[in-house]
Amino acid sequence: MAHTSAQVDSAVAAIRSTTKAEPEVAIILGTGLGKLGERIENKAAIPYGDIPGFAEATMETHKGDLAFGTISGRPVVAMEGRFHYYEGHDFDAITFPVRVMRALGAHTLLVSNAAGGLNPDQKKGDLFLIEDHISFFAGAPLAGPNDEKLGPRYPDMIEPYDHGLINLAGRICGEEGYDCRQGTYVCVRGPQLETRAEYRVLRMLGADAVGMSTVPEVIVAVHAGFRVFGVSVITDLCLPDALKPIDIREIIAVAAEAEPKMTRLLERMIAEVNQ
Ligand code: HPA
Repeated sequence: MAHTSAQVDSAVAAIRSTTKAEPEVAIILGTGLGKLGERIENKAAIPYGDIPGFAEATMETHKGDLAFGTISGRPVVAMEGRFHYYEGHDFDAITFPVRVMRALGAHTLLVSNAAGGLNPDQKKGDLFLIEDHISFFAGAPLAGPNDEKLGPRYPDMIEPYDHGLINLAGRICGEEGYDCRQGTYVCVRGPQLETRAEYRVLRMLGADAVGMSTVPEVIVAVHAGFRVFGVSVITDLCLPDALKPIDIREIIAVAAEAEPKMTRLLERMIAEVNQ
């Protein structure tokens, strides 16, 4: 039932009893970015269980800490472990940390994920800069009473992903020699993969990549006034006429192989992003 500013205030108060950190950049360490958490200097981590309103992380592969410190010399707050709808979390739980990171002072949100490539021009392991999204299948995280202190009733979605950050990422990818393209990400609820017919529909709708996360957090981030950047690693190709059975080990291997690129891109972005 949508967040209230009182809930956010009590989470912030609990965090403030542990750290006086003033983060500028918030990061959701999704697939392909786990190692960035190890690059946080002067790190202080608060377990989600110690923060009122935070759900418990349920995935074995994710930790479940809110981490503070610096990357590239800039103060950051990072979610080490994110929540997915397919784990059984509702949209309030998935997106609450975004509210809290904003209330702590962060103005820029960086988020990563693994995605399937719907655009035939992509290769496994490529980076994909999210320029726009389709939320039709992802639910409505702002449904319920709107607390005006947290954001407007009808936030526009004219530029959910900041063009300045996309251009910065494109330049860095070019300098580093990383293949990347930009386009539209569509969020599905999962955990099942899509049928051939569904991949065809998603492509017809104009999507270039499909995944099971990110869009709920980004909707709330836009509502909260964050400047947002999203990046995917393309872990598998979802071409309906050449579809192969899913091999989760291969997806994890592709994501792991792309991790150094993703980490380098984000470290450089954090260094270069303006206030
Ligand atoms: N569909 C949904 N999510 C995904 C996929 C996919 O094909 N690949 C990686 N994450």
